[in-house]
Amino acid sequence: MSTKIAIAIDGPAAAGKSTVAKQVARRLSYIYIDTGAMYRAITYKSLQQGLELEDEKSVYEVLVQTDIALVQTKDGQNVLLDGQDVTEEIRKQDVTNSVSIVAKHALIRKEMVERQQAMASQRGVVMDGRDIGTHVIPDAEVKIFLIASVEERAVRRHQENKQKGFPSELEQLKREIATRDKLDSEREVSPLVKAEDAVEIDTTSLSIQEVVDRILSVVESVKEG
Ligand code: CDP
Ligand code: CDP
Repeated sequence: MSTKIAIAIDGPAAAGKSTVAKQVARRLSYIYIDTGAMYRAITYKSLQQGLELEDEKSVYEVLVQTDIALVQTKDGQNVLLDGQDVTEEIRKQDVTNSVSIVAKHALIRKEMVERQQAMASQRGVVMDGRDIGTHVIPDAEVKIFLIASVEERAVRRHQENKQKGFPSELEQLKREIATRDKLDSEREVSPLVKAEDAVEIDTTSLSIQEVVDRILSVVESVKEG
């Protein structure tokens, strides 16, 4: 198969999705799309506007008037919210701790999935998130489900924070990750779940390179038919 395909990468927080998705996209000269950034962007805007995040309608009304653009860069992507670069702001703790509340709303998910499907329609994409293989691109030629222990994922975030000079506490990170996992996995609308036809990779004791290589070998075998 020489045509371009769609690669869906799902899994819980800090399983390594965005890191490996970016590298896989670079190796294949595909576009990388981080769908979590879109949920983070609308959460950031809702917090800025002082919206009640549980109020689905108010958040939705803001979302339909909001432009969220993912701009490809050398190292990944920048996130533009109504034209303003919010790449850094949407990674901050207040957004991280609130995003799963916004992401559970059916209206929000419907709007986001439509936007993401339009982005993926050209193929030649690596898209990461929670519901890519199950809802956004259910016919993706390659579906990957990345997992890792909560302990390992908290250690990864902790190291990332230290590198960035952000305050970080390991036990607190563990609790936050576990809470987000629970909210994402137990919500009614498109919960985080492995697609039946996804290849699961436990990254707990794998390096980034090993995970990238495994995904590329799945891609190769699919392309060879
Ligand atoms: O990078 P990290 O794994 O911490 O999170 P993310 O991929 O940026 O996603 C942030 C949050 O957005 C997740 O915890 C989910 O609540 C939500 N999300 C979702 O519901 N569906 C997606 N396709 C992507 C993210
Ligand atoms: O996108 P997601 O939240 O799933 O995870 P990420 O932001 O790509 O990865 C979280 C951190 O784990 C990053 O600092 C990666 O460098 C690191 N990582 C790792 O140490 N080993 C892996 N096999 C994958 C990621």
